[in-house]
Amino acid sequence: MAGLWGGRFTKETDDEVFAFNESLSFDNRLLNNDIEGSIAHVVMLEKQRIISLEEKDAIVKGLTGIKRDVEAGALDFDGGYEDVHSFVEAKLIERIGDAGKKMHTGRSRNDQVALDMKLYIREQIVILDDLVKDLQETLLKHIEEGLDTYMPGFTHMQKAQPVTVAHHLGAYMEMFIRDRGRLSDIYKRMNFSPLGSGALAGTTYSLDREYVASMLGFEGATRNSMDSVSDRDYLIELLSALSTVMMHLSRFSEEIIIWNSNEYRFVELDDAYSTGSSIMPQKKNPDIAELVRGKTGRVYGALLSILTTMKGIPLAYNKDMQEDKEMTFDAIDTVKDCVKLFTGMLKTIKFNTEVMAASAMKGFTNATDAADYLVKKGVPFRDAHGIIGRLVLYCIDKDKAIEECSIEELQAISDVFDTDVYDAISLKTCVDKRLTKGGPAPERMKECVTFYREYLLNSERLNQMIYKKS
Ligand code: ARG
Repeated sequence: MAGLWGGRFTKETDDEVFAFNESLSFDNRLLNNDIEGSIAHVVMLEKQRIISLEEKDAIVKGLTGIKRDVEAGALDFDGGYEDVHSFVEAKLIERIGDAGKKMHTGRSRNDQVALDMKLYIREQIVILDDLVKDLQETLLKHIEEGLDTYMPGFTHMQKAQPVTVAHHLGAYMEMFIRDRGRLSDIYKRMNFSPLGSGALAGTTYSLDREYVASMLGFEGATRNSMDSVSDRDYLIELLSALSTVMMHLSRFSEEIIIWNSNEYRFVELDDAYSTGSSIMPQKKNPDIAELVRGKTGRVYGALLSILTTMKGIPLAYNKDMQEDKEMTFDAIDTVKDCVKLFTGMLKTIKFNTEVMAASAMKGFTNATDAADYLVKKGVPFRDAHGIIGRLVLYCIDKDKAIEECSIEELQAISDVFDTDVYDAISLKTCVDKRLTKGGPAPERMKECVTFYREYLLNSERLNQMIYKKS
């Protein structure tokens, strides 16, 4: 197949070389972005009197036709073209003749591909952000319902202090707020048009780069043409942000897997979001959560891959950079699927509130509160810690909870105990009195719910506020 460089060459590309070199098989997903960019480019060329009005009109019509025909399935990405850019140009020339040969005036595939990727990534950031927002909406419902649902909080996987379902899920809400903040930061930072940077050193045509940039919804045009064609920072940033999203989803998945286990039974997964075993009839497996946890690896892989690809590339464009696509696309697809499926799973999950509350009562989660009780009666904290430690040992021996001890048993360990201790160490007191900002007390969590509602109504504005404050 003749390439775009027929003049300089006397031989056809070797078949294996062609197959190794081509990117059409995966960059064809940039078709619409490529066409959008080319239309903006030729509109600008005409405005600058570099091509005629008729030529511009013919090109725009031709490009629109190509887009329409591909969408309708009337035009295939046949294998003979190196990449989406050569495909579109060749089809255009085939369809409209000589005018088509002027489309690439003042442009290189280097600034073209840089533009296409930015256009595509911008769209994807918005889609990803929407999906995470859906997840947050689902989370908020559970938070609102779980304000008074007690559960044990853990450190080292050991029961620590009681919290509520709302408080625990609120932690994930905060993570996803930061995730979305990162996405919007990346969008803002990357939103400058590279078109007009040419191969690396701009061009002698009088292009209006700012005009193209504003037509395509960019903040402006980039400042340095060599940087513009070599910059893949925004992909690295995106993959890093997506890796963090996956890390959060993976931790959440891990908790759901634990909560769904026979030993915990804190949650019940909907039948539609679980799978059975081919051999063990009793099984109801949390496959979705496990797959989300598992797929985290390939998103991290994409990040590491592009970081490694970019580290040794001298300025400006080198073909290595074509490797920015496949794994990035795969990572974006993976994260979209994971967020979507995870949201569905979360929408239909049931919290076994009684099991959770019963579990919060066991395991001495009120030991800190028992010590605090003694402190309030004048015992220094370190001594109180020792007294409650001995009390816990006694309880383990007798196989009972602190609140199940009689006042005589308690007083045998410390005469500071009085009958008001039972109220001081009840589950309700332990949670409701934890009123510090950020604590699990329903009163505090209600304030968070108000904030989350407001945030979801107008996330963009709120994201900006969050960053202004810090
Ligand atoms: N398919 C190429 C890529 O993805 C397009 C740019 C090619 N430029 C070049 N000078 N070979 O990077």
